[in-house]
Amino acid sequence: MSSKELRKKFLDFFKNKDHNIVKSSSLLPNDSSVLFTTAGMQQFKEYYLDKKSPYGNKVASCQKCFRTSDIEEVGDERHLTFFEMLGNFSFGDYFKKEAIYFAKEFLDTLNLKIDYVTVFEGDGEIQKDVDSYNVWKELGFSEEKNNLIFKGRDENFWGPTGEEGPCGPTTEIYINGIEIWNLVFNEYFQDKNKKLTLLKKKGVDTGMGLERLSMIVQNKPTIFETDLFLPIIKEIENQFNLKYENNNYYFRIIADHIKSAVFLISENIYPSNIERGYILRRLIRRAIRYGKLMNLPSGFLLPLAKKVIEIYKDVYCEIKLSENNILTVILNEEEKFEKTLNKGLKQFEKIAKKKEITGEEAFHLYDTYGFPIELTKELADEKNIKVDIGGFYNFFKKHQEVSRKGVEAKFGGIGKNADYNATRLHTATHLLQSALREVLGESVRQMGSDINSFRLRFDFSFPRKLTNEELQKIEGIVNQKIKEDLEVKREEMSYEKAIRFGALSFFKEKYPPKVSVYSIGDFSKEICAGPHVKKTSELKKFKIIKEESSGANIRRIRAVLE
Ligand code: SER
Repeated sequence: MSSKELRKKFLDFFKNKDHNIVKSSSLLPNDSSVLFTTAGMQQFKEYYLDKKSPYGNKVASCQKCFRTSDIEEVGDERHLTFFEMLGNFSFGDYFKKEAIYFAKEFLDTLNLKIDYVTVFEGDGEIQKDVDSYNVWKELGFSEEKNNLIFKGRDENFWGPTGEEGPCGPTTEIYINGIEIWNLVFNEYFQDKNKKLTLLKKKGVDTGMGLERLSMIVQNKPTIFETDLFLPIIKEIENQFNLKYENNNYYFRIIADHIKSAVFLISENIYPSNIERGYILRRLIRRAIRYGKLMNLPSGFLLPLAKKVIEIYKDVYCEIKLSENNILTVILNEEEKFEKTLNKGLKQFEKIAKKKEITGEEAFHLYDTYGFPIELTKELADEKNIKVDIGGFYNFFKKHQEVSRKGVEAKFGGIGKNADYNATRLHTATHLLQSALREVLGESVRQMGSDINSFRLRFDFSFPRKLTNEELQKIEGIVNQKIKEDLEVKREEMSYEKAIRFGALSFFKEKYPPKVSVYSIGDFSKEICAGPHVKKTSELKKFKIIKEESSGANIRRIRAVLE
């Protein structure tokens, strides 16, 4: 049975049990304490608490998930960074008995035999999960039969995601010795201080990895032989005339990382040196490094990315919609890293003659050759030498402070002495950013700005050259807004409110708790220190004079006012 059929079979099964089928949410969660969506329940987190679920109290989904916690394990038979999680959920509706019965029935429909199950054994704080134990017993599982095992908090207690949230004991189902389905019974709320309180409504959150399920149903030795991966592995074989052998974990790492990269880019994440962009960069660079170990030629990731797109484009429309964007970003990042990788590896060999790599040396590898610290650490581990990670971060912080000061000097509030022309150009910059987003999409983000009395310069994230039509359109929109003579308004509010209000932000970590937000009619809203003109008509006429690259995936526009 194909993975496509399995996805459908799961969702149909729960639809027949009166569940509402909900689409996968984005890989970028609303919860700001986590970088990525790591579980199916995340989009439903609030419905376990007081908030009413707009989907009803029984739902099921197939959720895109991304976790870096297992990155070192990727390459064995069953660990991945990106995966799809099938899940059924109850918010105060059914509880343990139904959840366990549903799971058993679904696996029966696939003719799968459960090896054994695990149940929470209890500890000083939380009781043993006798209820789950009794349900399993009805279904023929017990300690005596050697198909039920009690386990502790480390294994059979789940959550919360992020800093706080619902959590509870779990019961887990194993087939062929592999954990395949995790049934979480959300009974508690854990707060930021790790204090547990009972939830008002009891909930169910289950998660079953589609890749593992496919591996078992398709009777494959590893997830990499399932139809969710084999086309990528085959593509490496065919393109580069190589043979995949079962234990070749380089193939697997590359296949995993390119898949994750494709999904992250489809959500408008671009390689960068911070947060999500950094993780994307790390994945692509790690894949390239393994490619080098296999002697794959430059540009090898591109055909593989195409394969990933082929596998998923009918399942997730964002993959189809951003196909060109995905390929351009991968190509750019590959080119960028290829340039420095060999030199960096030589440099590494030089410094790796000693017992330890200093923080400064690791920083040099990062800053000059683009080696993520994790890559340096991996290379060092292979040679059994140490890296001073703490020292690296000290250098890293110092460097960030220096560049931030530079940015502030260039950009941060134009200052009271700014002449009127610079103020007009500053307002024009806000109009430009909104116009760019209107024409090129919401993924456009400010990456830098520089204004003097004569011109504005604006850097933004975008993976390719703009066409003349696009530039004309953007210029036209800005001039239209100038004509509309919109009012420029300033309001003070908390940072959180500003973000909720939809204001664009730049260098998030720098903002104080209270910020000022400038809006221009309904067209633009930005957190900004000002100053600005009062009415857009003061800008008279806007003209773009140049569009060029300003680094990988960054474009730069220079513009003037009449
Ligand atoms: N949230 C649980 C997990 O991620 C079950 O869905 O395993």
